Amino acid sequence: MIADFARKLENIINFIPPIPAVIVELIRALDDENSNMGTIARVIAKDPPMSMNVLKVANSAFYRLANKVSTVDHAVKMLGVKEISMICVSCGAYQALKPPRDAGTFNLQEFWKHSVATGVIARTLCKELSVGDRQTIYFGGLLHDIGKVVLDRFAHDVYKIVMQITHDECIAMIEAEKKILGESHDVIGGLIMDKWKFPFVLADIARFHHNVSASSEQSRPSVALCALADELARLQFYGFGGNKGGVILEETQAFRILAGIAPGINNIDMYKLVQDLETLRDEIGEMEKILTG
Ligand SMILES: [Fe+2]
Ligand SMILES: [Fe+2]
Repeated sequence: MIADFARKLENIINFIPPIPAVIVELIRALDDENSNMGTIARVIAKDPPMSMNVLKVANSAFYRLANKVSTVDHAVKMLGVKEISMICVSCGAYQALKPPRDAGTFNLQEFWKHSVATGVIARTLCKELSVGDRQTIYFGGLLHDIGKVVLDRFAHDVYKIVMQITHDECIAMIEAEKKILGESHDVIGGLIMDKWKFPFVLADIARFHHNVSASSEQSRPSVALCALADELARLQFYGFGGNKGGVILEETQAFRILAGIAPGINNIDMYKLVQDLETLRDEIGEMEKILTG
């Protein structure tokens, strides 16, 4: 199965649809110091469905804005260039991978629950520890397992076996992936983000969230935050990806790396931190609606 799949994998990467041109422009604008609110609003306005999405997001309970937002200009002004661009990039990525209506998929609801929980927990840790950039961390968490969507979308029959083995043998999904496919979702996630020319920290979060110490020095704190949030989400029943057995947070690569940067992490009760996230359930519901359009 592995040899066959290695050939198929090449095709998967080659045939992954390109990200829409408007997203490419937004990513470019994110990198450009000279881009301002006007530039971003103009790029988004060129794409009516995306403009609608931006207004939907800005008016969602998620952002709790006091007044209704009715133009893209106003949305960009209220939420900022980076937040709006990252929302569009995340929506664009998941929209590009959206399965046809009648296609079988894994449990997408569980997937969204895990992805949003990881993003929200990572953002909370980012604030608590003053490590990394809040938006990059949040959207990095939201997109960290995108490779699973790619595999499920383009190799659903084989991926079904992966999920079955994950369940039957009570192992982590990544182990089952390596066993059946010879490759895993983290690598695929990194490849697709490279193909779409996503900001490199987002690509590093996807590529190294299961092997934090292999990430570049520059992105390592962000990768570690998302990797720890990924574990925490799973331990707090927002899991997706099998059972890894009794993970001790303090013994993970992610925790050790973060403890070296922000020793205050040793004084935080991680479980309480997640339990105190009162808005987490609402955020999961809102974000799921936004990302699935
Ligand atoms: Fe993962
Ligand atoms: Fe994950």
